[in-house]
Amino acid sequence: MADDNAKSKLYNRPGIINKIAGFVAIVLALSAVIMLCVLFGRTDESQGYLGGFNWIENTFNYHPVMMVAGLVFCCLTAILSYRLVPMSKRFTKAMHVCFHSCAVICLSIGLSAVFIGNDYQNRNQDDKLYANLFSLHSFVGLAALILYGSNYLLGFCHYLMPMPMDYRVRYMPSHVFAGSFALFAAIFAGISGLQELFTEYGCAPQVQSEDLDTTKVYNTMNAGCQLMNSTGLVLLATAFFSALALWENHAVSARQGTLPLRTDLTTKLIPNQSSSSEIRLSHIETNP
Ligand code: HEM
Repeated sequence: MADDNAKSKLYNRPGIINKIAGFVAIVLALSAVIMLCVLFGRTDESQGYLGGFNWIENTFNYHPVMMVAGLVFCCLTAILSYRLVPMSKRFTKAMHVCFHSCAVICLSIGLSAVFIGNDYQNRNQDDKLYANLFSLHSFVGLAALILYGSNYLLGFCHYLMPMPMDYRVRYMPSHVFAGSFALFAAIFAGISGLQELFTEYGCAPQVQSEDLDTTKVYNTMNAGCQLMNSTGLVLLATAFFSALALWENHAVSARQGTLPLRTDLTTKLIPNQSSSSEIRLSHIETNP
């Protein structure tokens, strides 16, 4: 395909703020993964760290790291691969598929880890059995996984299998919307998972009188509990910068002549709004 080596046309759409925000979001997502590796990977439990990685004796610890690495870091990088760096369309598409496939591998490991950890007594540090699917975290996490998985499969069928062009064009807005929403749901699942552990490990500080010096009381919490909070905040910041990276600034688009188009029923591209500025149809991604 001659068009395959052209630069991805979506690259033209984001403004400089979107691009900077995209890079910041990826760095933050990677930082969240590293923070979780420290929290679950360090073994000094007196400091509140959670015991280290061992698939046989401490299977659960792989769950948070793999889920955030897959559904937040890999998913975000895959989504933004179309927007941050100008690359050939073929390479961009390969990168998009590759990162999403890494995400699927990570989330399969992460999900197995929590079910194995809950259902096999000898796979936990405390040799207990735990219930499955009872918490808000597990419902939100499952919703994110189902949405992400369906979007992955539908994306695969539409853009990697032979499919009429008008099907591809019509499905694109839903693909973008579902993918972005799955990312935000995964971030919320990550934050709620951290909150669940925070409560389970009894992190809330005990006070004997009114808490008039919040920082002093906060510092009585051990390092592990504080790291849970910081990781949650890093995830929140990841959500903020991801939203900024994906935000369509109509003022910039109008200046660049890349206002979004809508398709009519015969998939003929028509401008979304009447504007005196010339709308360059060539900037719109029609062949994903
Ligand atoms: C992308 C992020 C995440 C997703 C999509 C996700 C998804 C899920 C799902 C579907 C379950 C239910 C499995 C079962 O009940 O056996 C679960 C359980 C659990 N997850 Fe996560 N998780 C994520 C991140 C995290 C993080 C960051 C933590 C903690 C640091 C965490 C802590 C837990 C805990 C403690 C359970 C067992 C208790 C429960 O079912 O609520 N998760 N997760």
